[in-house]
Amino acid sequence: MASSKPDPENTEDLKDKTQSVEDPEQKLSDGVDENADLTDKTNVSTETPVDTEDPQMVWMRRYFAKSLGILFEDPPECLLDEVSFEGIARYIASDKCNKIVVMTGAGISTSAGIPDFRSPNTGCYEQLKKEYNIENPQKLFEYSYFKGNPEPYYKYRKDIWKGTYKPTPCHYFIRMLENKNKLLRHFTQNIDGLEMLAGISEDKLIQAHGTINHSYCMDCGQTYTQKWVRDKIYGPEGPVPRCANESCRGIVRPKIVMFGENLPERFAEHLSDIDDCDMLLIMGTSLAVRPFSNLPIRTKDNVPRLFINLESIRVAKHPISALFFGGGFDFENEDNIRDVFWKGKCDEGCFALADIMGWGDELRKLVKEEHAVINKELGITDETGVIDKTTENTGSTSTKKPARLGSNTQDVKRVQTPQRQSVHNRASKISQGPSDQAMKPVTKDKRGVPSGTTQRKTSTTPALNLNKSVCNTGNSKK
Ligand code: OAD
Repeated sequence: MASSKPDPENTEDLKDKTQSVEDPEQKLSDGVDENADLTDKTNVSTETPVDTEDPQMVWMRRYFAKSLGILFEDPPECLLDEVSFEGIARYIASDKCNKIVVMTGAGISTSAGIPDFRSPNTGCYEQLKKEYNIENPQKLFEYSYFKGNPEPYYKYRKDIWKGTYKPTPCHYFIRMLENKNKLLRHFTQNIDGLEMLAGISEDKLIQAHGTINHSYCMDCGQTYTQKWVRDKIYGPEGPVPRCANESCRGIVRPKIVMFGENLPERFAEHLSDIDDCDMLLIMGTSLAVRPFSNLPIRTKDNVPRLFINLESIRVAKHPISALFFGGGFDFENEDNIRDVFWKGKCDEGCFALADIMGWGDELRKLVKEEHAVINKELGITDETGVIDKTTENTGSTSTKKPARLGSNTQDVKRVQTPQRQSVHNRASKISQGPSDQAMKPVTKDKRGVPSGTTQRKTSTTPALNLNKSVCNTGNSKK
């Protein structure tokens, strides 16, 4: 059952949760998966009207009208001089393109050494299946499972996330888009915090599935930093961190969005950016999890969409499939005026784009300088291949002083140039941790909900009214 565990930190980002995560592992190419919607429907209200102006509904109406030949309007203007990777690159560099929305997933961090979820052989789901003998490894990330049995999740954290992680060229490319005033918003499903470490502004970033940089006790709401949690996971009492308050000892959980939980309010607040953007850049994601996977269909009809990924996704052909399972791309359609799929590694795709735009040298310099700063401050003296390896997408780097995932933001103190100062400030914001906040008392209302949080809203038709749905899987395999 979907749950909306309140966030005890009294912060804005988890209150009034209106979206929840769904994982349609088997997105269908042309049909509806009966098991697709695990959104909690038990508390569905019949009073909430369906928002007929929802862009996804508008898209479906127009799609049907077009299919039936009753859409009487001029075809949309093509914004590209050529529907190709090069055409998109030229468009980005042009004055026509100033509001880019970037959508990313685990594939942008694999070259940093963090495994993605679904890649065959290397994805963590397959590893978990083998190592933990779990039929459905996704269970580890379901709130309903985690709250009763947090140990497998923390064992996974302990086993998988123990390297040194630096932002990838792809992260720095997104930062360059911001530096050049082209980035409207960056929606990420990643919880690794590498965006902030790369210097992308908090204001530009939507961490749709939360972040492991903050944690809190599920019973009393005490907040803890990443470092505190890390010490507990690897400490003698690990791997499950327990509240330091002796009278509580509740399970401490990361402030991530698990399946069945609601997405941060900030996600819903910025959906209109996708309606308004003049370019959508999607990188390193299987687009398998709702509501994230439904975002691309919100763009205007002629807005160019570039998808950079190792593998293509099956594109839902039927409008209802697209609505439920995402997609709706025109990659293979004859009348495609805007969609381009570039098959390959995200870092390489970003360098290729940057080269066409004349930003290539600047990007290489940025990556090199930033990595050098991180290396220096982490005490990494073995430079062999650190920059080169990452720019070649070959994975993590050798280190002398390993830090663990998410710890970068607290362990790295950046050189205080004006730019880096602001980066450091942003990084330290997300790493305000145990020592700063750990013992902060949490006020609760009569229901035991920490103040500043609200419970999830319900909707009449969660499956269709996607603006008001929950993060859950579209796959009910248990
Ligand atoms: P996935 O593992 O589902 O997809 C990652 C995609 O990136 C795959 O299509 C890979 O082929 C591709 N990929 C991997 N490395 C790449 C590289 N270097 N360059 C280009 N492409 C690469 O990860 P997500 O789509 O992020 O949610 O998964 C979405 C959500 O599912 C996660 O946020 C998580 C997970 O269950 C929760 O836990 C709630």
